[in-house]
Amino acid sequence: MKNEWALVDEYIVDRLLPPDPVMDSVLSANAAAGLPAIDVAPNQGKLLHIFARMVNARRVLEIGTLGGYSTIWLARALPSDGIVVTLESDPGHARVAQSNLQAAGLIDAVDLRIGPALETLPKLADEPAFDLIFIDADKPNNPAYLEWALKLSRPGTVIIGDNVVRGGKIKDATDQDPSIQGVRQFYDRMSGEPRLTATAVQTVGSKGWDGFSIAIVNG
Ligand code: SAH
Ligand code: DHB
Ligand code: MG
Repeated sequence: MKNEWALVDEYIVDRLLPPDPVMDSVLSANAAAGLPAIDVAPNQGKLLHIFARMVNARRVLEIGTLGGYSTIWLARALPSDGIVVTLESDPGHARVAQSNLQAAGLIDAVDLRIGPALETLPKLADEPAFDLIFIDADKPNNPAYLEWALKLSRPGTVIIGDNVVRGGKIKDATDQDPSIQGVRQFYDRMSGEPRLTATAVQTVGSKGWDGFSIAIVNG
């Protein structure tokens, strides 16, 4: 039996997300390749897309590609000269993502860099700042990813962090899970950072109880 949240998500998707064969085939290809189903929910993917359009994003950075589901939502928000740089450490995930991006007709809008993000992020330091940054990879490294996000940003850059609630576990200071500790340090780092105005929002739905943080770099 599906819970109420999942049923309401179905209602929302039915009303507001038109049938999308490209996204459907991405999720089937991911499942066929054995990728974990930890992509953002469809309505959250669309929210990322809307955020990108709200800030007229031309350069987007994503940390954690998986099969490219969120990547495609973001790439669809770009003008024709825009780019999503997306970082993925697992070559198998990257291969599936490349194939999905090809099928979606978005291969030219995405620059997929394979390797641990802490090794690929420094190579972006000489490029123009990103307009929107989506942090969604290994959570123990979230504090380090926030440092990089700040380095690769400009006033007005929006920084979004996925999975910042984790079924409520985040409120427990004694939780020894390195992912929980990483996300708690991510909160601490945001709260102590004068360059950021930050908040976080809990979400329920087809992916359970979680949430995302959103911050903007101050002028
Ligand atoms: N953003 C995706 C989901 C990403 S899941 C979506 O919503 O569709 C997290 C991804 O981060 C996984 O594919 C995992 O392999 C990748 N990852 C884990 N550790 C990483 C690291 N150190 N550097 C880059 N990617 C990493
Ligand atoms: C996990 C990672 C994610 O990015 C996500 O959205 C959900 C779950 C995980 O590692 O369990
Ligand atoms: Mg996530």
